[in-house]
This record gives sequence, C-alpha cells and structure tokens, in this order.
Amino acid sequence: MRKIHAFSMGKTADGREVTGYTMYGENGMRVTISDLGGVIWSLLVPDATGRLTDVVAGYDSVADLEASSGYLGALIGRFGNRIANGQFTLDGKTYTLYQNDGNNHLHGGKVGYDSRIWDVTCEDGEEPALLLSYLSPNGEEGYPGNLTVQVTYRLRSDMALEIHYVATTDQKTVLNLTNHSYFNLAGYASGSVLDHVLQLDVSHYLETDAELIPKEIVPVKDTPFDFNSAKTLRRDFWVDDRCPALKLAGGYDHCLCFEGWERGDKQVRYRGYLEDRSSGRRMELYTNQPAVQIYSANFLEDDGNRLKGGLHKSKQSALCLETQCMPDSMNHQGFTPCTLDVGEVYDYTTVFKFVNLK
Ligand code: GAL
Repeated sequence: MRKIHAFSMGKTADGREVTGYTMYGENGMRVTISDLGGVIWSLLVPDATGRLTDVVAGYDSVADLEASSGYLGALIGRFGNRIANGQFTLDGKTYTLYQNDGNNHLHGGKVGYDSRIWDVTCEDGEEPALLLSYLSPNGEEGYPGNLTVQVTYRLRSDMALEIHYVATTDQKTVLNLTNHSYFNLAGYASGSVLDHVLQLDVSHYLETDAELIPKEIVPVKDTPFDFNSAKTLRRDFWVDDRCPALKLAGGYDHCLCFEGWERGDKQVRYRGYLEDRSSGRRMELYTNQPAVQIYSANFLEDDGNRLKGGLHKSKQSALCLETQCMPDSMNHQGFTPCTLDVGEVYDYTTVFKFVNLK
C-alpha cells in the first residue's frame, strides 16, 4: 500500500508550482509537507483513544503562508536565528549578509530556505520518507560556498517524525539548519501552550541583548530556564522584573544548551519531552545538536492574517523546539562551532517521537 500521496497545492505569487506530500504512518498518524520551504503543514497524532489532532500551527493555503510571517513549520537556513549586524569573518574575510531583522540577519535572510522550492524524492515503504534537496549557491544572501543540502523527513513506525540534515560545501562556510514547527499537543487551535509540561536536560542558556543577540553563556540553575525537572511553561513565565531575560523577549525565546554540549558529542541522544496532560500526548525530543532554541511564539500576534481554519494568531499558542547550534556563534569565542569546511559532512538528526500517556 502506498504511504505517500502527492498533490498540487497551487502556485506561489511569483508563479512557482507547489506540491504537497502526505505521508501516512501508524495509528492514523500523518504529516503533510510541501516542497515549498519543506514546510510541515499539518501533523496528525493520535491520543490513547485514537483521536487524531493536528499538533502544529500552519496555514490553509500557499497564499495565506505568503501573506504572513513567522516561519511556521519551515526549514530554516542557511543559518538559523540571528547573526549580529549580518556580519561575520571567516579566515580573515568579512562577509555581509542581508539584514532582515533590524540591523541583524535572521533565519537565512530575505529569501531563506523556508521560501525556496526544494527538489523532492519520495521513498515509499513501511517507514515512508521525503528526501528534500536544495543547492544553495555561493553568494546567496551573502554566504560563501555552494552548499548542497539534503533534508530527509521520515515517518517512523514508532510514531516518530525523524528529520535528518546533511550538507556539504565547496568553500568554507557557516550553517545552522533547523525546522521551525509550532507545537501545541492539545491541537493547534486549543489556545495557550503555557500549561504544557517541558523537561529538557540543559546546563546553560544564552543571555541576549534587547535585539535578542546572544551575549553570554549562563548556567540555568536557579533560573526560569532550568527545565531539568519537568515543569509547566507557565510556572516560571516571569515576563517581569523577576527575570529581565524573559521580560526582554516577552517569553521564552532563548537558546538552551544541552548537558555536555562542551564535549562536541555527535551521538543522537534523548534530551527530554514536551507534554500536554489534558490529551495525554507527549513528544519526546532526540537530537545530536548541542542546543535548542525554545520559542513560545511571542511574536505570533494577531495581525489580521489567518491560520488554518480561519484561526487568528495568538501569542504563546505554541512552542517551537528548534534544535541547532548557538545563534551568532561565529561572532563569539567559546560558542559551539558552526563552520563547514570542504570535505566535511554536516550531519544532524532530530526526532520528535510521540507517546500516549493514558
Ligand atoms: C524564532 C526566533 C524568534 C522569532 C521567530 C520568528 O526562531 O527565536 O525571535 O524571530 O523565530 O518569528
């Protein structure tokens, strides 16, 4: 039986054809992904009674996606998160990138990987997969090197969505690839995510300035960023003077560094979970990335644009778990490495695995 179904999603405003792919997994689980930006449009996950709910925020159409912002569900590249002043120096040469977030460069620039059409190959089978590839040319958005990127989305039979990122370059470059899904395990339309429980094995977080550019690496102990013991997002959501870092960002929008990140370990490890106790859905996180940006959708304000089913955007209605290296890392000593040299292979995996608790 075929487990991947391809369909037309219409065209972008500039006339590019968009194709959607739905992959069918176990227990009714299914995910729809487009060649446009590798966007995850929907992710249906059962609860213990078999009831399916779409656990990611997104849009109904390509036109709605293009009218809006927020990178919902998309692949992010060449460099996830911010690069201060859109500048960095590599081997003595200074590169200037497009500044699309004030003075800074964000999520790949003016036209990031989230807006590119990727080539897609389907791998049908027990565990269906989509192989997305994109050749990011030398100089694109200011980055050096022709970068060949392949991202594989696999729907595993253990109710896991596995994302495997591989890249090679013909010139030394910087990169930080991730996926920007907005999760709400009670269903994307169910309101605030702040009562979700989060547990993450993290030792440090990055304190930022007012432009959300990292300043320093700070231990999470005794801060709202300590998720080593499971707690609701709401518990320490101190967007006031008790926590200037949360106040500045209007919520969680911080890079948390996994236990042992300093060792540069490349094993895919279990790092924690996000859980909605009302539906009993838990999403486990596995990755070999050294860090994760947790983002409680603080910019998801109602701007008149509609989400799926006509829903209005609302702050803190979802949580992004963007596994990655440290933002702006090329501009800070002691941050995680973020360069790729000729002959090296960038090879990272992130798995979102769903389990039912009741
Ligand atoms: C997140 C980032 C936020 C915001 C968002 C997109 O990854 O941490 O600050 O830019 O993407 O709206």
